[in-house]
Amino acid sequence: MSNKKQKAIFISLSPNVEEDDLRLAESLFFSKNNCRKESLDILKDKMREITGIPNCFLFNSGRSAFYIILKSLNYSLGDEIIVPGFTCNVLINPIISLGLKPVYVDINEDTFNLDLKDLREKITSNTKAIVVQHTFGLPDNILEISKICKDNNIDLIEDCAHSLGAKSIGSFSKASFFSFGRDKIVSCVYGGVLMTNDDALAEKIAEMYEKLPECSWIWVKQQLLHPILTEKLIKPLYELKGFGKYILIILQKLHIISKAVSDKEKKGNFDKEFVKKMSISLSLLSLNQLEKLEKLNNHRRKIAEIYYQELEGIAGLTPDNPDRVFMRFPLILEKETDNILSVLRKKKIFLDDGWRKRNIVPQDTDYSKIGYVKGTCPKAEYVAKHIINLPTSINIGLEDAKKISSELKKLI
Ligand SMILES: Cc1ncc(COP(=O)(O)O)c(C=O)c1O
Repeated sequence: MSNKKQKAIFISLSPNVEEDDLRLAESLFFSKNNCRKESLDILKDKMREITGIPNCFLFNSGRSAFYIILKSLNYSLGDEIIVPGFTCNVLINPIISLGLKPVYVDINEDTFNLDLKDLREKITSNTKAIVVQHTFGLPDNILEISKICKDNNIDLIEDCAHSLGAKSIGSFSKASFFSFGRDKIVSCVYGGVLMTNDDALAEKIAEMYEKLPECSWIWVKQQLLHPILTEKLIKPLYELKGFGKYILIILQKLHIISKAVSDKEKKGNFDKEFVKKMSISLSLLSLNQLEKLEKLNNHRRKIAEIYYQELEGIAGLTPDNPDRVFMRFPLILEKETDNILSVLRKKKIFLDDGWRKRNIVPQDTDYSKIGYVKGTCPKAEYVAKHIINLPTSINIGLEDAKKISSELKKLI
């Protein structure tokens, strides 16, 4: 038996950060704000090349990009926006802040994407847009939904926050947005991209974009600290009886590092002042990761193949799909998952990514403030109680994936 000390395995906490990303974050943190603006243009060109979509705008987050899409479409108070019943509240808050009404549609249990029957039933004369989400990198049935939109004169908006690099995403819609959030396909802690094929809409967005403020330098430094402190302090302290978790909470409470979702957002608020252009420093971090997109996504697929092999025969594996990217590897177990996660934690395998327990995450989101009525998306509610996401990021080795699979098999 090997006595080698097992290193901890994480699904979250800046999972994409490699040595070069860390060095870049450190040098940007200590540099004066004299980065060159060209990086923004290079990043936009890169996104155009990846998606094939010509018009591109860079924001401080995906939620800001989504807010600007909604605002540019000039909907009226009370208009309805269809959203998936398994989502994050940061998708809902911009809708509510503009006086629009989110309408939750149930999901398919094995793709997490919109259930077409429920979708058709929830369309009304007030429906103005359908948001598809490509959850965890699984592309939604975009052709079918696109046809439903055309037949009903409804806009299609694509939330590509989880699916950068998946085939044929982003370009079927009126507009789409991507996230470079801390645990997405590529990350710069806070960053987002809006893309559209519609030149007239792009002109309108360009006018709005010009008026947006830049991020403050202190906020940018706060984001740059995130990968530095997670790698140097928080993750190593997780090895000590999970002590890192408390350090993480303290650092967030002291505003030394940011939270992915603020306390206000959990209560259904969206701060319009938060909507800003992407900072140059953070664009450099995301560009460094985008250059590695193929490597990162190929690695994710390799890890997913190990999970498929090792977990073959268990219930709850989602069907593979060649167009998919594996931002995570979701499993729907028969058992509820608290106990399983707690046993794994004792073995230094930290798999709670926050996408669980409640169908609108984070789990302490106030449903009464975001217009979700319990029981209206039963399949999404079931999935939330039974899902475990397995990590696929570049820091997960093949042996880690085997270890996770074997520990999991003992528990399910
Ligand atoms: C499904 C989904 N949509 C949108 C977003 C918003 O992205 P961002 O965190 O960049 O604002 C997120 C991430 O938080 C998400 O998970």
